[in-house]
Amino acid sequence: MKLQAKFLGLILAAGLLGAVAVLALIQGSVHSIIIGGIEKSSVVLALASIHDLAAALASGRETDLLPVLQKLQREEGALYAAALDPDGRILAHTTVTEKGRIEDDAFTKAGLAAGEPRLRKDSLRGEPVLLITVPVWPPAADEEFLLSGPLRTGPKTRMGTLKLAVPLRAPEETETRILRDISLIVVLIGAIVCGLFVLLARGMLAPIHGLMAGIARIGRGQFDVKVPVLSRDELGELAESFNAMSGELARTTVSKEYVEGILENMDDMLVVTDPEGLIQTVNRAAAEALDGSEVVGRPLASIFDSPPKEEVVRDAEVVLRAKNGGRMPALYSSTVFRGRDGRLRGFIGVAKDITARKRSEEALLAAKLAAEASNRELETFSYSVAHDLRAPLRAVDGFSQLLLSEYAGRLDEAGKDYLTRVRQGSKRMGHLIDDLLNLSRITRTVLRPESVDLSALAASIGDELTRSEPGRKVELVIAPNVRAWGDANLLRVTLVNLLGNAWKYTSKHPAARVEFGTENRGGSTVYFVKDDGAGFDMSLSKRLFEPFTRLHAANEFEGTGIGLATVQRIVSRHGGRVWAESAVERGAAFYFTLWERKS
Ligand SMILES: Nc1ncnc2c1ncn2[C@@H]1O[C@H](COP(=O)(O)OP(=O)(O)OP(=O)(O)O)[C@@H](O)[C@H]1O
Ligand SMILES: [Mg+2]
Repeated sequence: MKLQAKFLGLILAAGLLGAVAVLALIQGSVHSIIIGGIEKSSVVLALASIHDLAAALASGRETDLLPVLQKLQREEGALYAAALDPDGRILAHTTVTEKGRIEDDAFTKAGLAAGEPRLRKDSLRGEPVLLITVPVWPPAADEEFLLSGPLRTGPKTRMGTLKLAVPLRAPEETETRILRDISLIVVLIGAIVCGLFVLLARGMLAPIHGLMAGIARIGRGQFDVKVPVLSRDELGELAESFNAMSGELARTTVSKEYVEGILENMDDMLVVTDPEGLIQTVNRAAAEALDGSEVVGRPLASIFDSPPKEEVVRDAEVVLRAKNGGRMPALYSSTVFRGRDGRLRGFIGVAKDITARKRSEEALLAAKLAAEASNRELETFSYSVAHDLRAPLRAVDGFSQLLLSEYAGRLDEAGKDYLTRVRQGSKRMGHLIDDLLNLSRITRTVLRPESVDLSALAASIGDELTRSEPGRKVELVIAPNVRAWGDANLLRVTLVNLLGNAWKYTSKHPAARVEFGTENRGGSTVYFVKDDGAGFDMSLSKRLFEPFTRLHAANEFEGTGIGLATVQRIVSRHGGRVWAESAVERGAAFYFTLWERKS
C-alpha cells in the first residue's frame, strides 16, 4: 500500500472516530436542551396547577376537575390530562371515554406509589409522548399552597395523581434536524481536512517519489542518477545526499554492463562455477568453443580431458573437450572466487586456446629433430670421409718423400719442385682433415658441464699467447671472477679460438689491446672478446661462422677458417648463440651467451 493511501486511511479513521465522538456529544447536549427543557417546563406547569387540582379533587366532582385539566392540557399542549384517585381510577380525563377506567400500566402504578413527579418517554397511537405523573396531597393547615413532591410535609392522605401525556414529535423532529445539520457540517469539515491532507501529502511525497525512482534506476545498474532537490528541509537534504552518493557510485563502481561487455569480448574462455563446482556462467568465447548450452550446469571437471589436480592452477597445459567431440589444447588458470564476506562463491577458470602455438611447436620440434638427424648423418659422413682420406693421403705423402729421397738423382729440378709442391699440398690437406675431424668431434663428444672459471682460463691462454710471441706489445684486460656453467674443455677451445683470433688480427698493429669480460643485456649475461685490430667488413660477415670461411687472405693472416665454426658449435651445444660486431681497422668484438645456470 502506498504511503499516501496509508496516511489517508489513518486520517479518515481518526476523523471518523472524532466525528462520531463529537456527534455523540452534540447529540447528548441537543437532547438535554430540547427534550430536557420540555420535561422541566412540563413538570413546572403541572406543579403550578396542582393547587387548583387539589381543590377540585377535594370537591370530588368531575365538573370541577375537567376545567382544571383542560386548562392544563392547553397550557402544556398535552395530548391529554387526567386526574386519578389513589387507586388509579380515572376521576376526570380530557378524553371523555377514559373516565372510570383504572390505569394499571406499570408506569402509572409506579407513579401512584411514588411521592414525587415521574416522567417516561412512551408512544401513544404511534406518536412519541412524554408521560408525567404528579402526586396531589391535601394542603397543610399552615400552607397556602398545596405542594407536591419533596416539599410536601407531614403525614397526609394522598388525594390523587395528575397524569399528563405531552407530545414529543415536534421537539424530536427539531432535534433530528439540528443533528442532521451539524452532521453535514462535520462531514464537510472532514472532507476539507482530507482534501488539504492529500494536497499536503502530494507535496511531501513528491521528493520521496523522486528518490524512489532514483533508487530503482541504481538498482537497474545506472549509477549516475540525479534527483531534483525540491525543498530545503530534511527531504531536500536527503535528495542532496542521494545525488552525492550516486555520483560517487558512478565514479567508483564499474557497472555490470561494463564488466559483462569486457567478459563477452574477451578472446580467452571464461568459466564461473558455484561453490560445488557446477558451471554457472560462460563467456562468449567459452560458449563457442565448448558448446555453452550444454556446458552450463555441468561439473567443471567435465570440460577437461583430464582435469587439473589442484583447484587453483596457473598456466597449466590442459586439453579441453571442445564442440562436436573435438579436443583443444589450452593454457588454463583458475582462482577461488570469494564474496566480500569471505564466503566461497565458486571458482573462476580462464583458458587460452593454444592450438596454433602447439602446432607450430610441433612443427618446430619435427624440423629440429630432422635437422639434428641430418646433421648427425652429415657429421658421421664427413668424419668417415675425413678418416678414410687419411690413409691415401699418407700414401701420397710417403711415396712423394720416397721419390724425392730415392730417385732424386733421376729427377731434374722441375720434377723435384713439383714433388715438393705435391708434399706441401698433401700436408695442407692433412691439416684440413685434422681440423674437420676436430670439428666433428666437438659435436660428438659428451658434454660434462661444471662450474668453470672463465677468467682463469682466459688468463692462462693469454700467457701462452704472450710466450709464443714475447716481442709483441699487447695489453690483455681480463675481467675477474667470470664463471660459467659448461664443459671446461669445450669452453677452453672457445676462448682459445676467440683470444687467438684477437691476438692474430691485431698482429699488424705496433700495440694492441685485447679484452675479455661480460655485459648484462636484458638480465642475461653476455660474454665478449674484443680487440682493436684489423677488424672486418660487416657486410661480408654473413657466413662468418661457417667452416672454412675467411674474410682475410692467407698471405695477410694465416688460418684455415675453422675456428669460428668450432666456436659456434660449442656455444650452441651450451644453449647459447654467438655474434660479432666489427668495422675495418676498428677492431672486432665477439659476443656469446651460455644457458642461464648458476655458476
Ligand atoms: N678478431 C678478428 N679480427 C678480424 N677478423 C677476424 C677476427 N676473428 C675472425 N676474423 C675473420 O673471420 C674469419 C674466420 O675466422 P676463423 O677463426 O674461423 O678462421 P681463421 O682465424 O682465419 O683460421 P683458424 O681459426 O681456422 O686458424 C677470419 O679468417 C677472419 O677473416
Ligand atoms: Mg681463428
